[in-house]
Amino acid sequence: MTVQETGPLTTEAGAPVADNQNSETAGASGPVLLQSQHLLEKLAHFNRERIPERVVHARGAGAYGTFTLTRDVSQWTRAKFLSEVGKQTETFLRFSTVAGNLGSADTVRDPRGFALKFYTEEGNYDLVGNNTPVFFIKDALKFPDFIHTQKRDPYTGSQEADNVWDFWSLSPESTHQVTWLFGDRGIPATLRHMNGYGSHTYQWNNEAGEVFWVKYHFKTDQGIRNLTQAEANRLAGEDPDHHQRDLRTSIERGEFPSWTVQVQVMPAAEAAAYRFNPFDLTKVWPHEDYPPIEIGRLELNRNPENVFAEVEQSVFSPAHFVPGIGPSPDRMLQGRLFAYGDAHRYRVGVNADHLPVNRPHATEARTHSRDGYLYDGRHKGARNYEPNSFGGPAETGRPLWEPVEVSGATQHGAAPAHAEDDDFGQAGTLYRLMSEDERSRLVENLSGFIAKVSRDDIVQRAVDNFRRADEDFGKRLEVAVQALRG
Ligand code: HEM
Repeated sequence: MTVQETGPLTTEAGAPVADNQNSETAGASGPVLLQSQHLLEKLAHFNRERIPERVVHARGAGAYGTFTLTRDVSQWTRAKFLSEVGKQTETFLRFSTVAGNLGSADTVRDPRGFALKFYTEEGNYDLVGNNTPVFFIKDALKFPDFIHTQKRDPYTGSQEADNVWDFWSLSPESTHQVTWLFGDRGIPATLRHMNGYGSHTYQWNNEAGEVFWVKYHFKTDQGIRNLTQAEANRLAGEDPDHHQRDLRTSIERGEFPSWTVQVQVMPAAEAAAYRFNPFDLTKVWPHEDYPPIEIGRLELNRNPENVFAEVEQSVFSPAHFVPGIGPSPDRMLQGRLFAYGDAHRYRVGVNADHLPVNRPHATEARTHSRDGYLYDGRHKGARNYEPNSFGGPAETGRPLWEPVEVSGATQHGAAPAHAEDDDFGQAGTLYRLMSEDERSRLVENLSGFIAKVSRDDIVQRAVDNFRRADEDFGKRLEVAVQALRG
């Protein structure tokens, strides 16, 4: 039984409330009294019920689960939660769309966030990925501009096709991800019927200090299922909470969704000569180069009890690593290492990491940082500095990740190109992998959106990028766009 089911209604301070229907007034027909404390407290609390929504990925749903390791990976990482076959780790996964606001429809064409928290015995490890293996851009400096074009225009208050295509067409590195997004997988049927990806390359390091670069894949055990644009449009009107409800009710029914977890592993020495820059987020590592290796299973099996407390206030940071796992030099990832903690301090507060959903569950956080808004006094009277002679927590001397070789002078500029690096090759490969039906739907989805652009030069530039990926792709798109624009 929860506290809400026992005893009388009370004020925030716990005093019994006599009347929850009528405010206290001066006489039967007079104005309300300032001493009507229960009324004032209710109105004031109500005014503060919202926190800032996430600047991106505002719309989401989450569930707890279990990660089970099925393969010995200790040759590549010393992370304890990855140390023993059969070992289980509690997890929390939040799915999201990217551009929409908190109350927007679930079935839009947009990447889906796949933010996974592992509550490990060495601290929480957050893998904050998407349902796509790549991304639109490769430098964090471009992220605010990119997102401005995806969200509401400052003048019209709506998303504008002009802004979206102006940015994408001027950022040709987005061609691969845009091709992916406007293909069949751009609108998953449910959150259970899609894959997840860590997307970035991360460092794993083993007990001997050897370094490996890894990419994570979470392959849905439910099978991939998608919605057509027409089905998605209908659902967005009839059932905007479609994905959220499907996830919750499937777990309530005991149909626990699961994913087979795989990694691609590249020994550090192979990175420099690899045909693609392995730290470029707009590229995949083709499976023939680095075959995915199955390492575990992720199952979601418990719904949060309170959406605000556990989903809205949940925080995930790509900077939350554990021993044996670390960042790569990916320029997007480097920017994200800053952005998330900063967002959490603004959105949830300086003690966000102490909330039940966010704090470590399999160990405890032992810091010298204290106080701030809504500090709960967890450290009691312990000394708050280090070094100290009173048995306080002390540094270990071993970094979580291994050093990475760097060379040259500080600079602005693109990373040196690897043999097959360009903005279009992998987009063309993706197009050619599609069946004829898939290609038709891709061209239809893209042309429907590009045709909304008001300026011919932007339309031309957008189509040209797809032509550079594949001649046939560009030609078909041009014809389709022209037919719609007349
Ligand atoms: C440099 C580029 C990026 C920046 C600066 C950035 C920044 C942010 C920020 C500020 C949030 C809101 C965090 C919060 O309020 O709790 C967020 C959420 C999120 N981002 Fe990014 N992002 C970037 C790229 C990416 C990429 C490449 C991915 C996936 C591969 C990604 C996946 C997510 C996800 C899944 C969430 C939602 C997390 C949650 O469920 O709470 N982001 N991002």
